[in-house]
Amino acid sequence: MRWTDESAWDGTRQPLRSATGLDPSAYSSPEFFTLEQERVFERAWVCVGVADELAGPGRLLVRRVGSRSILLTRNRDGELRGFINSCRHRGTELADADCEVANTIRCPYHRWGYSLDGALKATPFFDDIAPDGFDRADFGLVPVRVDTWGVLLFACLSDDTPPLDVWLGDLPRRMGGYDLDSWVSRHEQTLEIAANWKLITENFQEYYHLTWVHPELAKVSRVADHYRYQGAGMYCGQTTTPVSGDERDDWLALPEAPGLDASDATSGRFVAIFPNVILSVLPNHVWLMRLEPVAPGITRETCTMLLPAATGAVTDEAIAPTREFWLHVNAEDVAIVERCQRGLVNGAVPPGPLAPRFEEPLHRFHNMLADCMTADDLALLVVPRGDDPSEPADRWGAGTNPAPPTIDLDTLVTGP
Ligand code: FES
Ligand SMILES: [Fe+2]
Repeated sequence: MRWTDESAWDGTRQPLRSATGLDPSAYSSPEFFTLEQERVFERAWVCVGVADELAGPGRLLVRRVGSRSILLTRNRDGELRGFINSCRHRGTELADADCEVANTIRCPYHRWGYSLDGALKATPFFDDIAPDGFDRADFGLVPVRVDTWGVLLFACLSDDTPPLDVWLGDLPRRMGGYDLDSWVSRHEQTLEIAANWKLITENFQEYYHLTWVHPELAKVSRVADHYRYQGAGMYCGQTTTPVSGDERDDWLALPEAPGLDASDATSGRFVAIFPNVILSVLPNHVWLMRLEPVAPGITRETCTMLLPAATGAVTDEAIAPTREFWLHVNAEDVAIVERCQRGLVNGAVPPGPLAPRFEEPLHRFHNMLADCMTADDLALLVVPRGDDPSEPADRWGAGTNPAPPTIDLDTLVTGP
């Protein structure tokens, strides 16, 4: 299968009602994985952490993006910076784990030193006899594009990819009422899951499995209360309105964020930003999962709880019900996606149909994947538009999707 050719994506390119899922090799083949790392993760805007992990100058984060290791830091003015994690002398990896570096990123090999802006500042013993024409200004760290939305940190290894605000489209505007810039984080859990990264985000995007895999979650997030929540942008989503506390109060245990409008105050927003970040946004907390593909059948998942600044200092005891609820739900999801992975690896089963009522976001996600895999240049990427308002609402749920804010699509959609 030539995954860079459109012909390999026939099932994905069909309209939803005749579309199929991905070929099993997309979840298990080393060749597909390598190509996907290059064409998706080394060109997309990839979430690499949250702001609190990089609270001030001197902190250095080491993150993997595709096959590359990158460094993230803040300069003296607090601005986010990203670099390839390789020394400009003879290429040594500069850091192998998150650490404090004060003012200087030092190479452990021959102690070349770089400022927090990546400028080469120190070259021991070069002052006596320097190489011909040597100028430190020519040997700064190789920069990587970085940007932020809310408390999320993003990096992009390609210079051609549209900027992050085009990538995210109308999502920041739709979620503007939560004031996510000010939320604080608590790291909860990092898991190594025996499943391909796509199975984890696909599982999050559909609520078809809710009743059987999560009998407890289904009590607060009822299937009948789910609607699509997709505007123009590289994301897939659903919303639950209302967030019900009828039988359990796990989601309502913490105080609500201040200033929410009536819709945000009564809804759960479940958004998967392509490719690797999953957000469950509730009126009083966010459960964030960041995915890092390790191998075709292994994914590292970092779970973080975000809290509004006003309630960020609450005790561990206060957040325990909410935290335990999510860890429990996540354990159920991990078990089922690992089982799905085993089934996909086990047999040469051709891809099956998608459930139109529940799995439309997967169809959208698969098409984003196909777009990235087949595009020679992401500068030409067409950011998908939002849910088609001509579709009858009752085809998708028992009510009406909340109307998306009015936006000028032409300012967001790139390419031909
Ligand atoms: S390789 Fe980094 S200083 Fe020599
Ligand atoms: Fe689930």
